[in-house]
Parts: sequence; structure tokens; C-alpha cells
Amino acid sequence: MCGIIGYVGQRDAYPLLLTGLERVEYRGYDSVGICTTDGTLHLLKEVGRVEQFKNKRLPGKQGIAHSRWATHGGVSQKNAHPFIAHDAFALVHNGIIENYLELKEELIEKGVVFSSDTDSEVILHLVVGHYQHGPDKNLLAAVQQAVKQLQGAYAFAVLNKDAEEIVAARDGCPLLVGIGERENFIASDATAFIEHTQKVVYVDDFEIVRVTKDALELFDHDGAKKNVSIVEVRGNIEVAQKQGHPHFMLKEIMEQPQTIAETMKVELPRIGRPKRILIVACGTASYAGLLGKYILEKFAKIPVVHETASEFRYQEPLFYPDDLVIAITQSGETADTLAAIRLAKKHGMKTLGIINVRESTIAREVDQVIYTRAGPEIGVASTKAFTAQLIVLYKLAFQLGGKKFEGKGIATLIEETLKLEDRIKEIAQKYVHNNHFLYIGRNLFYPLALEGALKLKEISYIHAEAYPAGELKHGPIALISEDMPTIAICPRHETYEKMFSNIQEIKARQGKIIALASTGDERMREISDDIIYLPKADGLLTPLLVAVALQLFAYHLAALRGCDIDKPRNLAKSVTVE
Ligand code: G6P
Repeated sequence: MCGIIGYVGQRDAYPLLLTGLERVEYRGYDSVGICTTDGTLHLLKEVGRVEQFKNKRLPGKQGIAHSRWATHGGVSQKNAHPFIAHDAFALVHNGIIENYLELKEELIEKGVVFSSDTDSEVILHLVVGHYQHGPDKNLLAAVQQAVKQLQGAYAFAVLNKDAEEIVAARDGCPLLVGIGERENFIASDATAFIEHTQKVVYVDDFEIVRVTKDALELFDHDGAKKNVSIVEVRGNIEVAQKQGHPHFMLKEIMEQPQTIAETMKVELPRIGRPKRILIVACGTASYAGLLGKYILEKFAKIPVVHETASEFRYQEPLFYPDDLVIAITQSGETADTLAAIRLAKKHGMKTLGIINVRESTIAREVDQVIYTRAGPEIGVASTKAFTAQLIVLYKLAFQLGGKKFEGKGIATLIEETLKLEDRIKEIAQKYVHNNHFLYIGRNLFYPLALEGALKLKEISYIHAEAYPAGELKHGPIALISEDMPTIAICPRHETYEKMFSNIQEIKARQGKIIALASTGDERMREISDDIIYLPKADGLLTPLLVAVALQLFAYHLAALRGCDIDKPRNLAKSVTVE
């Protein structure tokens, strides 16, 4: 959460920082700020999005910038980064400083005046204090002193108006350096500078980096110099454009025939058969993991424990020697998933990541990685990453069960599902004024109900709840009324008859049913108010088709309600705080 970028070089910093900010804006978009220096600091910061700075300019060939997802301190201009001290120092921060209140009190006692309510400003005043009291007015040394006082998670960058350098530090939040020709960048994500350089240095936890236009030096907290290893990252800018679609989310939904076909080609590494699997993940990735549990138990016959990473990390999980811990994550940066993996590693467990972003923090920390080939996902609501995660989980379940997952015709089936868009839009139009939805499914379709409801909540702000259909009578059925339609995921499957009965129970209570059913299911058409017929497919592939249909439903409802689909309120794509 929060995106940071910095530049030092020979070119005007402002336009480079502005484009970089647009690329890291997915990490948070509550407020935005840019600070450049040409011997004097120049600052712009406002509540809202980067686009408001498009027609502005600031001078200087060096600067730092920030796009905020608010944690400590409300969304306001004074809490926007960068923070400035003595008209000479500027700082941007991603993360949470847990001991900031204690540090702030100490600083206030020493006479420091704070201009914001944030935890981040504390870092700036610590650095400035050490700089001013240090023997040689050295920014790097000041940062080295300051980080020793910080508890929590951070990636931050600081500059001094008179020095052609940026000093940045990391513990727990992503930070990397882009190495150009007589210019260097720092950022939360390589997409921020990818058209200028693909040469990247990943800064690790407990490292501090000093960047000038010609050099980069890496240090540990004690000031010892560390070796720098440069990695070439892949990526192009076209994928970060909408290519004619009104939203990234729709573009990404439409890309699924290709991203699934690409992920089908992934060769899995050799993975020894574990006695038990633990799956840890957050959000959409966690729902992929839940379906993964069903599939792994069914086809690999290995018991699976599925845990939300944020809970897992604070439980006292029981690990057994032959366990395999699998982290599923699009970004590879989610703080809770990372912490869960670190906990597992601390207990000596084998870890595997199913990850979309190459070289991300979790990818670098797990023992083995399987990369999904969804390509960059920009829309905050995850779509193509989810279906790619499912493909990998299917392949893994089959491999561990000694078989091969064929997935025959899956890309074509997804294409056919996408052709349902007009029908789905028509249904969305009919229900556009409903403020509550229930999603139900059984067995393989229960995780899809959860994911469908999450999509709707995320982008349309409509209240949606998902239940295993069998749970209805234990409470949620009390919610049923004409005003709370139910999305019933009920293709022909082992539990079809049970679903049919549950749907009848809803109808008997004046509930409306939108059914996702197998083509030609007349019985289901008769009982439901609206029906979406899914293409005829192998039962195992049907969850993927359901996923796509529910993505389209959420998308069109949100579009009809005029929501900001790619940047829904309060959300961020990469959640690097707890
Ligand atoms: C955020 C995103 C979700 C995503 C979740 C986990 O909440 O908005 O779309 O599913 O984080 O992210 P990860 O990158 O670990 O898959």
C-alpha cells in the first residue's frame, strides 16, 4: 500500500515522477504528492489522484513522489506525502511505524513540531535530528541511525535539497532501484520506470541504499557495504494500457482465454508428495486456495488446511515435518501472506509460492515458485490472476495425484463464456437498484460464491454475502425477501439435486433467483427468475466458467452504477501493511 518513486539524473524529474506515480497508483490513491529539488525544494501535494498534476510542472533533476493509501491520519492534504522539514529535507514512506506514538512524544519533547497526523513524519524528524547532530552532516549515516529506532514495516526515501542523492531503506515493504544511463530511480515496483530501464536492484529487508545519478551503494544497518546484484526484469508498457477497453478490469476479464492458455503451458517443478498441505493467502487468492483444497483433496488425496494468512500468522499453527506450505498471491507482496511464509520457514517447513509477479518478495523467499502467466494485473479487483491460480492448482493436484491435467478446450470454453456478456449485462440492468445479494454454491462452487460476492462488494459497493447452500437454513434464509436476490451457482454436478431443493426453499419465501446453470437445464429455467446458461463443459472446468460469468456480472453492475471500477474506494491492489 502506498506507492513511492524517486529520480536522480540529468533529465527533468517531474514528468518522470508523474508517469511513475500513475503506474504505482494501484497501491493507493487517497492522496498524491511530488517534491523536486534544484537547490530549493518544490512541493505539490493534494487529496485525490495523480491526474490532477498532469498540467503542472516543478523544476529540478531530482525528486521523490508518493501515492497514498491512508493508514495513520485521515485523507487530507496535510497527511499527504512528501513531508518536508526545515525547507531542506523531504520524505516519502510506505508501511506502518508501529512505535510512532512513543517516538513522536520523544521528538515533541525535544521541540519538534509536527505538521501531520501520520506515523511517516516521525521517520523524517528522526533522520533530520541525526543529520543535524551527526559529526559530518551525512544523510546516509542519519538514516542508518534512524532505522535502528523504527519498529514496523517500511520502505522510505529521503532527500536533502542540496545533495544530489536519494537515500532509501526497506524493512517489510517493497523497494527497488532502476539503474539507467547517468540516472537512477527508486520505486515500489519496476513498472514505475520500466520504459527507462529494465536493470533492477532489489533492496532487501534491513538494507539501506544510497543512489546518485552515477552510483548506487547498498549497506546494512551497521553501515557495512553489501554486494549489489543487478537483475534484468521483463515487461512492456502496452500491457499497462487499456487497449480500447473502458476499464482495466474489463480488459483483464477479456484476456482470460490467453492468460489461461499460457498458464496451462507452465511446467511445474518437481514437488515431493507432502503428507499434508497448508494453503495461506488473502482476498481473491484465498478463495482460489479454498477451491484448491477441494481439488487437491479430491485428486491428490492429500489433506489440506486452508487458512487466511492474516489469521494464520497470529495463531500457533501446528506444523508437521512433511508439511508443504503453499502461498498463493498475485502480487507476491501481501504483508500477511509474506508473514505466514516467514513463520512457516522459521519452523523449518518447505514452502511453495503460486505467484504472478516475478521476483516479488514472496517469490524470492519461498523454496519453490510456480509463476502464473496472467501478465500484469492493473485493475484492483483481481480477475485473470484468479483463474490462472486455479489452473496452477488443478495442475498441481493432478501432478501430486500422479496424473496430468489436460484442461481440454478450456481457452475456447472461456471465450464462449465471454460471449455471454450481453445477456449478463441485461440481467445486471434488471437488478441495478438492489443493494443486497446472496451468493450460494456447494462443493467446488462454494469458493466461487465467495469470490463472486467479493467481486460485487469490491467494485460496486453492493452488500453481498456468500454461503455454502446447505448453510442457508442455519440463519441466512432469514434475510430472504424480494429485495435480496440470490445468485445460485447450480450447474449439473454431484450436489445438483441438493442445490435444486435449496433454490426451491428460497422461492417459497419470495426470493428472486439468478441461476448459473448448465445449458439446456429446463427445470432450473422454470424455477429461476433469470438464468445464465454456461457453456457445456467437463465438470471440473465449470468453476472457471462460473468465475468469468460472475466477474462480468459484478463488472456490469458496477459500471451501470457509475462506480470507479479500476480504483474502488478504500482499496489498494497490493496490501503491504497488516
Ligand atoms: C488486495 C487486492 C485483492 C487481492 C488481495 C491479495 O486486497 O485488492 O484483489 O486478492 O489483496 O493480494 P495478492 O497480491 O496476495 O494476491
